[in-house]
Amino acid sequence: PPQDVATRRLMPDAAGLRAAAALLADGGLVAFPTETVYGLGADAGNGRAVAGIYAAKGRPSFNPLIVHVPDVEAAERLAEVSGMARDLMAAFWPGPLTLVLPVREGAGLSPLVMAGLPTVALRAPAHPVARDLLRAVGRPLAAPSANPSGRVSPTTVGHVLAGLSGRIDAVLDGGPCPVGVESTILALDPVPRLLRAGGLPVEALEEALAQPIVVDTDPARVAAPGQLASHYAPQGRVRLRVTAADPGEILLGFGPVSGDLTLSASGDLAEAAANLFGCLHRLDAMGAERIAVAPIPERGLGRAINDRLRRAAAPRP
Ligand code: TXA
Ligand code: MG
Repeated sequence: PPQDVATRRLMPDAAGLRAAAALLADGGLVAFPTETVYGLGADAGNGRAVAGIYAAKGRPSFNPLIVHVPDVEAAERLAEVSGMARDLMAAFWPGPLTLVLPVREGAGLSPLVMAGLPTVALRAPAHPVARDLLRAVGRPLAAPSANPSGRVSPTTVGHVLAGLSGRIDAVLDGGPCPVGVESTILALDPVPRLLRAGGLPVEALEEALAQPIVVDTDPARVAAPGQLASHYAPQGRVRLRVTAADPGEILLGFGPVSGDLTLSASGDLAEAAANLFGCLHRLDAMGAERIAVAPIPERGLGRAINDRLRRAAAPRP
């Protein structure tokens, strides 16, 4: 990937937003905060800019990108929005829910965004800086998480710069991301099917739809093409569901299991999600070679946390 760009750090004030929007309109790459993680944004209609995202991240070109829009009206210009999709948008947008919908003919998206699929993944982020940026650019933004492919997602500007400085034009500083895990991805084909557990708990979706959500756990059916088994990988080896660390292991604690680092001492899953990627980045910075992680309950945001931890623990290619 290119390594020679001077990456600017912009404050999210009027001048910073203007500069970020000008860079994006010109085909540049700008990282920005969302409520989940930092995204690496590009004009979704500009093929050269979208190609730049894949190059900067070292991302395989078969892994499509999420398109960020300000609202339902903008989504309807890009995709066929069914009644169920509309209900979900009304209930959960703006927020950490991505919907995979049939792409509309003439939507004007670069085909690289969909990576050959007939569908597009859409989300309206809730973070005020992301919303200000979308308004300032006036165009949909393709934005994967702002990390080198296969590594831990960024929840601070420091994480973004550690991974992508020199490869992107700018990053907007919005402080730490409050949710801390990526959005929940739902396919509606037309039965609702969970493609990625994330910042919106499945229980909330099931309650809103008054029906159970199919959780696709069969790895043979590649659900979201980006859901490669080994992902979110810190440098060290990861062992899960540990209540007492072996000698030489650094323990990541939760609730009653107190560790060297702690996701949430009180056992709060929202706090643990917000701390997860920061802890993994810190373990990398410490040079941790063997990491043990306390058990996390498989409910609410725990489902997203466990998904990321299982991928972090998966054998590396
Ligand atoms: O919270 C988030 O979703 C963050 C912020 C920046 O919005 N973005 C994010 O993007 O996590 P990324 O690229 O790291 O993950 C996008 C996931 C990938 O697993 C990709 O395969 C899947 O979305 N995806 C994108 N388009 C798809 C489609 N048409 N069908 C199925 N999966 C799709
Ligand atoms: Mg990602």
